Amino acid sequence: MTTASTDFASVPQTWRRSHLLDLESLTTDELHLVLETAAQFKEATAGCARKISVLPGKTVCNLFFENSTRTRTSFSLAAKRLGAETVEFSATGSSVSKGETFIDTAKNIEAMNVDAIVIRHHTPGTPHLLAQNVHCGVINAGDGPHEHPTQGLLDILTIREHRGDLAGLTVALVGDIAHSRTARSNIWGLKKLGAHVIVCGPATLVARDWEKLGIEVAYSLDDILPRCDVLNLLRIQFERQTTRPFPSVREYALLYAMNRERISRAKKDILIMAPGPINRGVEITPEVADGPHSVILDQVTNGLAVRMAVLWLTIGNHV
Ligand code: CP
Repeated sequence: MTTASTDFASVPQTWRRSHLLDLESLTTDELHLVLETAAQFKEATAGCARKISVLPGKTVCNLFFENSTRTRTSFSLAAKRLGAETVEFSATGSSVSKGETFIDTAKNIEAMNVDAIVIRHHTPGTPHLLAQNVHCGVINAGDGPHEHPTQGLLDILTIREHRGDLAGLTVALVGDIAHSRTARSNIWGLKKLGAHVIVCGPATLVARDWEKLGIEVAYSLDDILPRCDVLNLLRIQFERQTTRPFPSVREYALLYAMNRERISRAKKDILIMAPGPINRGVEITPEVADGPHSVILDQVTNGLAVRMAVLWLTIGNHV
């Protein structure tokens, strides 16, 4: 297995990517390297609280065409904790409203000597297109329903911290699988690390076809619950849907919300995760979101560790 550098003097030679576009194309060794590097950054920065200036003189631009709380803030903080400068771009208030194209916008930002662009966009494949058109590093912060690689990494890092090796663990992704970039990145990452993955939700949001990826498809949370080591509860993404996928939110919650009663029927040490934002009372009740099984805020802290690792690996110095 590839191990991370312990002193952060130079990026390991085994890492040759200047972009992180998805988890689908990452090798298992690369996946282990990012996770190990994130764990080491977390330790070296006292739980992501301190600075470690390994990217002095570098500039990271957050180019966000969609709203964000966690991803944007943590990429920005991660860059600052590594000693890099940051610049924030939002489509609202920019010259995009005057007709400037996406590529022209990105090239203009790159021309200001930016080392990495962190891109969130509603169109799948936008980060890949950007990587073909700029010379700086490109990191996918979520491209429509396609992938959200750093979310997948931070979810996996959180499971690893609480359970160790992922091989043999049963991890269920519950909810709006059809529109979830988090689901796709988790599936690629979890499968590479040997976990058994179940996708579970209403048939309108979970197609039987997902089985082709070598994962289990389930329509009853109550049936799979006793087997699960981890539940990752995904938000219903009404903003990406053209029709209502179920009769009412109340009915969805009745069948799929993680609540006190379901916790009592789950494994004693089940981990409850959610990528956020959470909708309390829809996919998770407040007593579960804030309860002893929940690692939702650990995920957020690990987001910083993972984003420090990804920024350093993609734009850090090579010997
Ligand atoms: N989990 C996640 O991507 O959250 P934000 O949309 O707030 O960044």
